[in-house]
Amino acid sequence: MKKNILVSRQYPREGIRLLEKEDFLLTIWEKQRPMTQNELIEQAKTHHALLCTLTDKIDKHFLEQCRHLEIISQFAVGYDNIDIAAATRFGIPIGFTPDAMSEATADIAFGLMIAVARKMFFLHKTIINGQWGYFNPTGKLGVELKNKTLGIFGLGRIGVKMAQRCKNAYNMDIIYHNRTRNKDAEKLLNASYVEFDDLLLKSDVLSVHCALTSATKKIFNRSAFQKMKPSAIFINTARGPIHHEKDLAHAIQAGDIWGTGLDVTNPEPMQKDNPLLFMENVCILPHVGSGTIEARNQMSVLAAMNIIDFYSNRQVPHIVNPEVLES
Ligand code: GLV
Repeated sequence: MKKNILVSRQYPREGIRLLEKEDFLLTIWEKQRPMTQNELIEQAKTHHALLCTLTDKIDKHFLEQCRHLEIISQFAVGYDNIDIAAATRFGIPIGFTPDAMSEATADIAFGLMIAVARKMFFLHKTIINGQWGYFNPTGKLGVELKNKTLGIFGLGRIGVKMAQRCKNAYNMDIIYHNRTRNKDAEKLLNASYVEFDDLLLKSDVLSVHCALTSATKKIFNRSAFQKMKPSAIFINTARGPIHHEKDLAHAIQAGDIWGTGLDVTNPEPMQKDNPLLFMENVCILPHVGSGTIEARNQMSVLAAMNIIDFYSNRQVPHIVNPEVLES
């Protein structure tokens, strides 16, 4: 019997073409808005597999309704939108797309760091607002990054790429904090493992690259920001709920830290009147870390291959819960 695959939105053709070459029946959601959860459930009920992404809510409720699904393939490296424990209980393998976007996301972290250090987004707005002014030798000043200390929270695939950029461009010292030590990265980057408090105390730039879990949720809160240097730049390209957004705004206003660059906010989308958007040392992007043609094409290929390999030989090359395939 042909397998029906529900494709939750329009993903790059590279991956879809691979699925089309197989003997699958694809239903692609073509509307210019994502499905609501109810729509997703109703559609998924008549399909064998689902190709979805980070804003599709694959929670316990969804999984209870759709426990018949044979595989869920997520077009993203993060999977905090999916109740992995429930999926595993129901025996549903969850595929994901690691590494495809590491370069692209590290570029966004690196770019935000420079943009904040030089107030780029704010200065762009001054021109739009007719406030170019004049060449003022003591005005519009930023800071330099050479020889500063980069603290990485979550030194995995993307964190390593960010650290390499900072080391090569600015000879930055690398310190990091992880759940488990990354000895390979320590050797590669001459990076030092530090406790969380030391990461806060010593970083000139602190860049977040961890997964969102109950342990990392709102870990960057008022008390964390108060421990940081008043000159520090906080970068988050991982997930918005890892920082406490009001505490972050307060920390910048109070001078606890210099500024922030965010590719992720909480909630998403960010409200257009959020005070952070009007601050001088703040640069915010609408969650585009993986948004390059190369990364998105590769993500679509990995997401498609997870489904294809599952149906051809019960292997999922990039799987979050491999235990379900063992049973
Ligand atoms: C993007 O945020 C991803 O998780 O791939």
